[in-house]
Amino acid sequence: MKLTDCHNIDDFRALAWRRLPWPVFDYIDGAADDEVTRRRNRDAFDACDLIPRVLAGVDRIDMKTTIFGRDIAMPLFLSPTALQRLFHWQGERAVLRAAADAGTVAGISSLATIGLAEAGALTGGPKLFQLYVHKDEGLNRAMLEAARAAKFDAVALTVDTIVGGNRERCLRSGFTSPPRFTARNMLSYAIKPGWGLNYLLREKFSLPNLSAHVAEGSSVPKSVADYFTSMLDQSLDWRRAATIRRQWDGPFCLKGIVAVEDAKRAVDIGATAIMVSNHGGRQLDGSIAPFDALADIVDAVGDKVEVICDGGITRGTHVLKALSVGAKACSGGRLYLYALAAAGEAGVNRAIALLRAEIERGMKLMGAKSLADLSRANLRWR
Ligand code: LAC
Repeated sequence: MKLTDCHNIDDFRALAWRRLPWPVFDYIDGAADDEVTRRRNRDAFDACDLIPRVLAGVDRIDMKTTIFGRDIAMPLFLSPTALQRLFHWQGERAVLRAAADAGTVAGISSLATIGLAEAGALTGGPKLFQLYVHKDEGLNRAMLEAARAAKFDAVALTVDTIVGGNRERCLRSGFTSPPRFTARNMLSYAIKPGWGLNYLLREKFSLPNLSAHVAEGSSVPKSVADYFTSMLDQSLDWRRAATIRRQWDGPFCLKGIVAVEDAKRAVDIGATAIMVSNHGGRQLDGSIAPFDALADIVDAVGDKVEVICDGGITRGTHVLKALSVGAKACSGGRLYLYALAAAGEAGVNRAIALLRAEIERGMKLMGAKSLADLSRANLRWR
């Protein structure tokens, strides 16, 4: 199997599975508890059918929109995700370039494997910095300062990781950042020498946005779930979120909202966007899928903030359904991470191109010339 054999996100997933040591693959692919929510995130789209209109004259369609104050070429962007250089040696650099080439937003995590200054200098494309609020307040301030200096367009404050989710695949594999090679998991790395050589011979792994303040994650191995539980500030509340909002002079997003009341409070503290998200099912298993939560949130705050549907998206038609409900844009993590793991920058380029082509084809088959033509009149729930 090679990159040109990948025609959808599941194909990239299959190729990633071949390329990665299984602890790394399972870190990307896995979720919390029984992984019910991870599956629901995607299946939720199947409970809703599209009603296409015909004879609309769709020789030219327009899928441009704006988000975080920037024009974007398509209504889908790359959510921030951690540890990308463990998935492919090109890591965030590949993701930033691929997003910029496609004219869409790249998300960069606090747990990124490149520094914010480098990320900012790498492309002129729209960039979102994902803040995890640490107990170390100096670190929080330093990261916001670095994001400002690097001219990030927006900040997403993560609100759904107050403790780590129960990621049983990671418990079984012993996956940590940085990876710890043990007698039990050594074989899984040894049988993927391509990955191992890149890990050992290329630049040393670290989390440069954190490493000047905390050793965990860079030189002290920790699972991501342990990292969240021990390093992040569990006292984070609305008052603190409002303070952080005031520290960032620009578009500000809360990432991980699924309740209508929380969406309203996000508006109250001056958020300009919310990512309707359950962290890819990696935190609270059994929580509602973003697509299922979307309509009520759009009805409550859709005219006050940019509502982003984050999670479960593997198809252009998923984007069209979310936009028909009233989302401003969609985003996803795994949708590009499998491709990154499979083939680096070329993989991410191909994944974005496939999804873009699906959105375009879907709009034409829906009789939608622009995103404004998408509405709930296009949808029927089963
Ligand atoms: C995770 C974080 C790091 O879900 O986003 O693993």
